[in-house]
Amino acid sequence: MEIRVESGDITQQPAGAIIVNLFEGVTSPGGATGAVDRALDGAISTLIGEGEIKGKKGEMTLIHTLGKMVPRRVIVAGLGKSEDFGADVIRHVMGTAGRFVRRLGVDSAATIAHGAGIGRVDSEVSGRAIAEGALLGLYRFRRYKANDSDGRELESLTVVESDSNKVSALERGVAEGTLLAAATNRCRDMVNEPANQLTPTQIAEVALEVARESDLRLEVLDRQRMVDLGMGALLGVAQGSDQPPKLIVLRYDGDPDNAENNLALVGKGITFDSGGISIKPAANMGTMKGDMAGGAAVICAMGVIGQLKPKLNVAGIVPATENMPGGKAQRPGDIVKTMSGKTIEIDNTDAEGRLVLADGLAYARSLGLTRIVDVATLTGAVVVALGKSYTGAFGNDQHLIDRTIQAGKEAGENIWPMPTPAEYKDQYKSAVADMKNVGGRNAGSITGAMIIGEFADGAAWVHLDIAGTSTTDSVKGANTKGGTGVMVRTLVRLARSLAEG
Ligand code: BES
Ligand code: ZN
Ligand code: MN
Repeated sequence: MEIRVESGDITQQPAGAIIVNLFEGVTSPGGATGAVDRALDGAISTLIGEGEIKGKKGEMTLIHTLGKMVPRRVIVAGLGKSEDFGADVIRHVMGTAGRFVRRLGVDSAATIAHGAGIGRVDSEVSGRAIAEGALLGLYRFRRYKANDSDGRELESLTVVESDSNKVSALERGVAEGTLLAAATNRCRDMVNEPANQLTPTQIAEVALEVARESDLRLEVLDRQRMVDLGMGALLGVAQGSDQPPKLIVLRYDGDPDNAENNLALVGKGITFDSGGISIKPAANMGTMKGDMAGGAAVICAMGVIGQLKPKLNVAGIVPATENMPGGKAQRPGDIVKTMSGKTIEIDNTDAEGRLVLADGLAYARSLGLTRIVDVATLTGAVVVALGKSYTGAFGNDQHLIDRTIQAGKEAGENIWPMPTPAEYKDQYKSAVADMKNVGGRNAGSITGAMIIGEFADGAAWVHLDIAGTSTTDSVKGANTKGGTGVMVRTLVRLARSLAEG
């Protein structure tokens, strides 16, 4: 879908449908909604009076104009209570409105710039949220449906603004929102692809595409290189699979003269997590095709970073492998030696994320990177703790944690801080190695994070556990069923914010 910005009068738009809005509790609409109401001889205020239009967040009311106006249909989109209004609401409403319009079979729509008037949202923020909401809400994963009877797409969306002074800010916002939404949708595609299609080799292919588009350096380390570098933890996980593992490294040099101005993004890239010898129960095991959501977020964020060119050196590092059982698979009780030299006793082969990330972080350190953010579908325990709307943030550097949470706020992604108390270290002590790979039932997401942190080696480090947030089971606002593409926008925001100092 193409999104344009125009200055003009929305009642004159030659579109299949126009989208206007209403806050909850407003009885006589003003602004563009008021103008449309007048053109329709008071149809909107009549429906408000009769209680059919309430303005509740996400409420959609369709009115046919039947020759009274150029556009053939008007959709009145509820914005909810004005005190709750902001970019998140714009995204939610545009996601819902986009699907509503598509269902009508309309191929072109126009919308007013929600919030840019009485909502007092900055025009650039409004433009970004409109583009993100529409493009994310309209996302569908249909590649494997041969007979798709519902293939109609909304082709174009025009943002119409009566105040021509706001057009350039809206355009900037729409351009940025379009870039971010496309990257988020690409990440969703990767999460939704089944494991027979998106193997570690295929992830490296996507990384190559991204590198070409965004002018990034790409290096893909194969099994032999991992052996040479001593990545025993990553290799231990990979040895049960017939799919060759790949360590994917994308690099963007935004400040080449200042090596210390850097950021490493390390993403868990397990293309399928069967659990290995500590095999998972059959029910819902298929969802483990999405266990590479962190790696996908890193690759897709790197693509946007290469386009936006912040003054910062960023490396995206994705250890990619399957976790499979088999004759060559690693066993509980095995001891592996990581690239850092530290050894890990394998207590449960299903705690594989921290193993591949241990070598991912060590590799980042070997490149001299001093700020590390890892993103991983690491633990079921974080879903118990925070549910499916909040990503958990752990780390060893309060400043970097705060900056990451703030970047999430600006991007519209919820992140909640979690502690990493030193006294919990005892939980993953091993009698035979430097540590074991699980810390018991208590505080499972915390000990999982702390085991990764053992490999930060003096770097400032943040771990984002997206096991809950990387997928949804319902269509709601800007989110559609399946992969959410979570953290793409936060990582981009974080890189830009760190570049600004
Ligand atoms: N990939 C899973 C975590 C996960 C669970 C992601 C639910 C998405 C949804 C991870 O590799 C795993 O299996 N974690 C174990 C750790 C345990 C063995 C210490 C878990 O959470 O049960
Ligand atoms: Zn996993
Ligand atoms: Mn696992």
